[in-house]
Amino acid sequence: MVQGVLSRISGPVVQATGMRGSQINELVKVGEMQLLGEIIALKGERASIQVYEDTSGLRPGEKVEGTGAPLSVELGPGLLSGVFDGIQRPLAAIREESGDFIARGVQVPSLDRKAKWQFNPSVKNGSHAETGDVLGTVQEFNIEHRIMAPAGVKGKVEGIQSGKFTITHAICKIGGKEVTLMQKWPVRLPRPVREKKHFEPPLVTGKRIMDTFFPLAKGGAAAIPGPFGSGKTVNQTDLAKYSDTEMVVYVGCGERGNEMTEVLETFPRLVDPKTGKPLMQRTVLIANTSNMPVAAREASIYTGITIAEYFRDMGYDVAVMADSTSRWAEAMREISGRMEEMPGEEGYPAYLGKKLAEFYERAGRVWCLGSGSHNRSGSVTVVGAVSPPGGDLSEPVSQSTLRVTKVFWALDSALSRRRHYPAINWLKSYSLYLGELREWYEKNVSPEFYELRGQAMALLQKEAELQNIVQLIGPDALPDKERLVLEATKMIREDFLQQNSYDEVDAYSTLRKQYWMLKTVLHFHSKANSALALEVPLAKILESPSRQKIAVLKRTVDKDVEGKCRAIIHELDGEFAK
Ligand SMILES: Nc1ncnc2c1ncn2[C@@H]1O[C@H](COP(=O)(O)OP(=O)(O)O)[C@@H](O)[C@H]1O
Ligand SMILES: [Mg+2]
Repeated sequence: MVQGVLSRISGPVVQATGMRGSQINELVKVGEMQLLGEIIALKGERASIQVYEDTSGLRPGEKVEGTGAPLSVELGPGLLSGVFDGIQRPLAAIREESGDFIARGVQVPSLDRKAKWQFNPSVKNGSHAETGDVLGTVQEFNIEHRIMAPAGVKGKVEGIQSGKFTITHAICKIGGKEVTLMQKWPVRLPRPVREKKHFEPPLVTGKRIMDTFFPLAKGGAAAIPGPFGSGKTVNQTDLAKYSDTEMVVYVGCGERGNEMTEVLETFPRLVDPKTGKPLMQRTVLIANTSNMPVAAREASIYTGITIAEYFRDMGYDVAVMADSTSRWAEAMREISGRMEEMPGEEGYPAYLGKKLAEFYERAGRVWCLGSGSHNRSGSVTVVGAVSPPGGDLSEPVSQSTLRVTKVFWALDSALSRRRHYPAINWLKSYSLYLGELREWYEKNVSPEFYELRGQAMALLQKEAELQNIVQLIGPDALPDKERLVLEATKMIREDFLQQNSYDEVDAYSTLRKQYWMLKTVLHFHSKANSALALEVPLAKILESPSRQKIAVLKRTVDKDVEGKCRAIIHELDGEFAK
């Protein structure tokens, strides 16, 4: 291994000489304390290294040792319910080793080496296997953890048997090479797939404004920008809890000092609404508290997405929540500054956009690697929170993110101040998956779903125009037809778009429920419109008793919604016929 000498220390970035023969992205051990670092630039024998631990106390002249391997994650049983730092060190185990103040140079394996897992093979001795083939399974909570042949193996399976094994015990040989329950993968390299698939089913979130108005495809990428306190963390936690994915990787880069601590305390208490079990049983948490070094934060997003890809490769739908990517970009900015690179806009490195694109491009819906008889598809959906300073979306992180994500859920502090939750602004948000998902919605929800969505959206746009007029001349000056629009959009906003995360029934709406609710609201508007044409006074229309019933639909359980809606529609027809 290469061994060099520390020549310069500048916060999280250090330089070493005598590093000829090392590799870019190679993991190194820095100084007597053996702090972990990664080579991020290499010129001749001179290496720049970002260090994942506090570098204070390091001195020029101390040694730097190469490890010959890139920064990698351990993938195998024991991942689920894990809480790790940005370079996949298990937080609980580090604490145990070093007390509350994480000591430096502590070396704890990412996955437990002592735990034994019951392995049940699904291939036979003598059969042929290659990279990506499922060799057998380990039950981890409710999840079938599929053990796949790792990269670079191909050939005859030998010595496979069921039994209880640790993750480093050889479970078989393939083409003469030993295979264990655990594999490793370098975090900066996307895990290979057989083929990317087109986007099809939506990621059903249960949030009406997301699913009905701005849907995200499974395997797609979304940005959720918003200022402090507008609901980024609440929405991402809800997505983790309710969206129809099998696993969640939550990468937290705390905004306020104690925010990550909050997440670390909240998550273990969350209950999976599908199973009634702890949500952590299908979650991996990557936590960057504000006292952790910036380099670990820079790495955390890659650690997170690599773990997500691993579960995708088993054939699962996985969601990655990155909260907040702005903190991640700031880590990159600090490191770039220390490297004395030419700064781009607002001091961010010129490659900010490229890095963000590379991250979001690791989302996708794919055919997994593996030989013919092992057909599986999986997906990684990425949702990144962005916290632009002062809510100004023209700043570089927001702009670069918008270029690569196809869904934009714009959180709005004006809405959150009015306690309109989710505080997603319907006029500023968009989804570029609408076209691709149309057929799916029309087939699986209702042929008129997009039609209704279009009507509601048009009304909301009309409302915005009318509000400008109202501000000038007051509502009474508007003709009845337009006042009716304002009444209808008030219903859309309050009875449909607003959704309380803390109400057990309201927090999640099935797509059928969303459809029936919207249909009923719009039915009222259309009936009322016809009545106006027959010169029924608006005041009388608004007294409609059935109209009042629409407001309770939110809190109506899914199975009763269709019946209730049909009844309301029937009553409305009766009232208006009179
Ligand atoms: N969908 C929601 N339903 C109810 N309350 C919400 C919702 N979204 C946000 N809130 C409220 O707003 C507060 C701040 O949200 P949070 O997600 O922490 O903001 P951010 O992460 O953007 O700083 C929450 O503590 C909660 O009281
Ligand atoms: Mg937050």
